[in-house]
Amino acid sequence: MTRRQQIHALVDPRSHAHVAGRVRTLGGMLALIGISAISIDTLPHPVHVVTAIAAACVGIVAAVFMLEYLVRLWVAPEVARFRNLGPRGARLRWAVSGEGVIDLLAVLPVLATASGGARLGAVPASVYVLLWVIKLASDAQGFELIVRVVRNHRSALSAVAVLFLIVLFSAATLIHLLEGQSQPKSFGSIPASLWWAMVTLTTTGYGDVIPHTPLGRMLGGLVMICGIAVLALLAGILAMGFADEVRRREFARIWELVARVPFFADVGAIAISDIVARLRSRNYPPGTHVIRKGEPGDSMYFIVAGEVEVRIGGPVRTLSDGGFFGEMALIDRKPRSADVVTVTPCTLLVLEVVDFYQLAGQQPSLVRAIEAEADHRRESDRLRA
Ligand code: CMP
Repeated sequence: MTRRQQIHALVDPRSHAHVAGRVRTLGGMLALIGISAISIDTLPHPVHVVTAIAAACVGIVAAVFMLEYLVRLWVAPEVARFRNLGPRGARLRWAVSGEGVIDLLAVLPVLATASGGARLGAVPASVYVLLWVIKLASDAQGFELIVRVVRNHRSALSAVAVLFLIVLFSAATLIHLLEGQSQPKSFGSIPASLWWAMVTLTTTGYGDVIPHTPLGRMLGGLVMICGIAVLALLAGILAMGFADEVRRREFARIWELVARVPFFADVGAIAISDIVARLRSRNYPPGTHVIRKGEPGDSMYFIVAGEVEVRIGGPVRTLSDGGFFGEMALIDRKPRSADVVTVTPCTLLVLEVVDFYQLAGQQPSLVRAIEAEADHRRESDRLRA
């Protein structure tokens, strides 16, 4: 892997890597610090020390964003969709892409702070808040998720939007007919009545405009109930879409990790999808006790990356990428036979006991291979004892 590829893997917003996640979190925190600092700068009676600290924070955050912009521009040739454009073409395409433009706008405060000293120069600070909020939103994984959910469920969402508009215009027309004469200012026309219809339909109910006739009030009640129904429908579609998308992404992420474990190499595509759906990934720092001797066993682990030590008394056993552990307690239904401690940062796939037994029924050959290794380990532990 070249240096540029390594750095791209760190700053790629689509990367699932643990370190890339940390870099994204750090970027998000920096943007939040910057936004707070600029917000302080908009206070009407600023305290000198606070303003100076806020300006310093803005400067630092903006400088980091500037550096990030330059780095992302440099690694643009590694972006999959620009790879065939050559280095210069890829950088140009990235610079004019949505991501590139938002990142460029986010570094504008650097120039302003440089020219404006402690205060933010001639441009209103709120503009920078807006720019950094956009950057925060575009970098956040959740934002992309929302866009995806809306795109996947656009037909259902447009059906709800049409329903909303039908109720909105019907309510505005009816209230105009019922109350137009007694309250010409609020309900004299359909466009004027739309404000009341919108406020009532979304169940916001400011109470600035209210129907006076009994029929008008009955209509108000009906519109509120319709509003709750429409919003419930909308919430249901979005919640279902979110859960679906999160499950799909998790599946793709685990699939990628499972592909790195040689133990699963010979398993067919249908069986592997069954296994992937049962696994969860976990990251552990070095020195973590993943398993403690004597504790009840509730799961087993496959090592995607990293190294663990099995401490059973006598010389330790080391297991690394592709290995597994924690199977003996599940097979024997006995407490854990050893301590297992991470030596390096580890990415593990966890299989819960329920899924282990279900898998034993559906993928007997796989579980037989695990059992064979467990027999071998038991024998070697017995000989050593
Ligand atoms: P379990 O008993 O559930 O928890 C401790 C784990 O250490 C055990 O499962 C095995 O997975 C692992 N283990 C025990 N003995 C050995 C060994 N000799 N070599 C490798 N791993 C072992």
